[in-house]
Amino acid sequence: MDIFQEIYRDIDEDTVMEEERRYLMNTYRRLPVVLVRGRGVYVEDVKGKKYLDFISGIGVNNIGHCHPRLIENVKKQLETLIHVSNLYYTIPQVKLAKKLADLSGLDKAFFSNSGAEANEGAIKLARRYGKKMGIGEGEIITMERGFHGRTLATLAATPKVEYQEGFEPLPGGFKYVPFNDLDKLMESISSKTTGIMLEPIQGEGGIHLADREYLKGVRDICDERGILLIFDEVQCGIGRTGRMFAYQHYHIKPDILTLAKALGGGIPIGATLAKEEVAEAFTPGSHGSTFGGNPLASVSAYVTLSIVEDLLPHVEEIGNYFMRRLKDLERKYSFIREVRGMGLMVGMELSFQGGDIVKRMLEKGYLINCTAERVLRFLPPLIVEREHIDSLVDALDEVFSELER
Ligand SMILES: Cc1ncc(COP(=O)(O)O)c(C=O)c1O
Repeated sequence: MDIFQEIYRDIDEDTVMEEERRYLMNTYRRLPVVLVRGRGVYVEDVKGKKYLDFISGIGVNNIGHCHPRLIENVKKQLETLIHVSNLYYTIPQVKLAKKLADLSGLDKAFFSNSGAEANEGAIKLARRYGKKMGIGEGEIITMERGFHGRTLATLAATPKVEYQEGFEPLPGGFKYVPFNDLDKLMESISSKTTGIMLEPIQGEGGIHLADREYLKGVRDICDERGILLIFDEVQCGIGRTGRMFAYQHYHIKPDILTLAKALGGGIPIGATLAKEEVAEAFTPGSHGSTFGGNPLASVSAYVTLSIVEDLLPHVEEIGNYFMRRLKDLERKYSFIREVRGMGLMVGMELSFQGGDIVKRMLEKGYLINCTAERVLRFLPPLIVEREHIDSLVDALDEVFSELER
């Protein structure tokens, strides 16, 4: 039998769910739907039901599902060379690094395979640079409500008790302060501090934007004290906010930047970018990854970035429209506490837990998500149009009014 056919045999929903329970570790609370294909802003389940995707695989499918230009180029690379490791030079990896340098204004890249790994790379790089230059004792200050990943070090950088519980001992050298509070940050800096790591827009924490003055203030403090500033743009980067990187709205630049999620258009790739001087702290053998920046992932990322570049003006325009429509709902329903966001990274905070709304929206054919218990999170593909937004907002309106009744 054809191997592909073998994989897609016995694909009724119940069998898939039963086998998932039997053969997979129980780490995810999945919604009861088996998705099999996607095109643009839509995905389809195994029964043929279509869903309008407003979560994009948690901020990954920024160019939509199965973008024809991505498929065309990735197919060519699949037929040419998939992987050889970093024992050798490969062309797409170098071209991708150059493109990221041009787009970010940072000089050098290290490639890995996920957001957590990109952050591990950033933490290691900061500490090694700190040792070399005599900056602090390797301590990194991170933010309350921040999220940096599930590996041990990134978990230690993520001050959420529920995530950390049971995994102790966690690596040391992290300290947490409230987000958007410059005074508390200043108080916490000591002779041990090597770096400050934050998301310019906190994603998992509930879509909280850094204040303009705050972020400028953090940059100034880092400059004055010679401390490294690390931005985690794993979720808010790659066009999500209407600029290629969220920090570009703030007219400042980090010393180290981490990317993943949307970077590869769905093919896993992470990147740690840094200024030349900082990047030089890594030397041959000091860090590495077997897969990192392989030809397949690098071509995928290069193509994705090119497509996103063209979409940036659209994101700004359509993001404003989306915000206006959600604000209409905010005025209508007293249980909506706040709608906040930038571009197409939007959160709607409710006065109650949002899990049930997510399920009702799923039944109506919309994929959204709830984070930080009460915040409905919307991360649609950047190709989303007004008609899709109208359709989603109308469906939400229906769910909310049913709820009020
Ligand atoms: C800001 C941020 N950093 C890091 C991560 C971890 O990325 P990954 O799940 O690819 O390891 C995430 C994932 O949600 C994230 O939102």
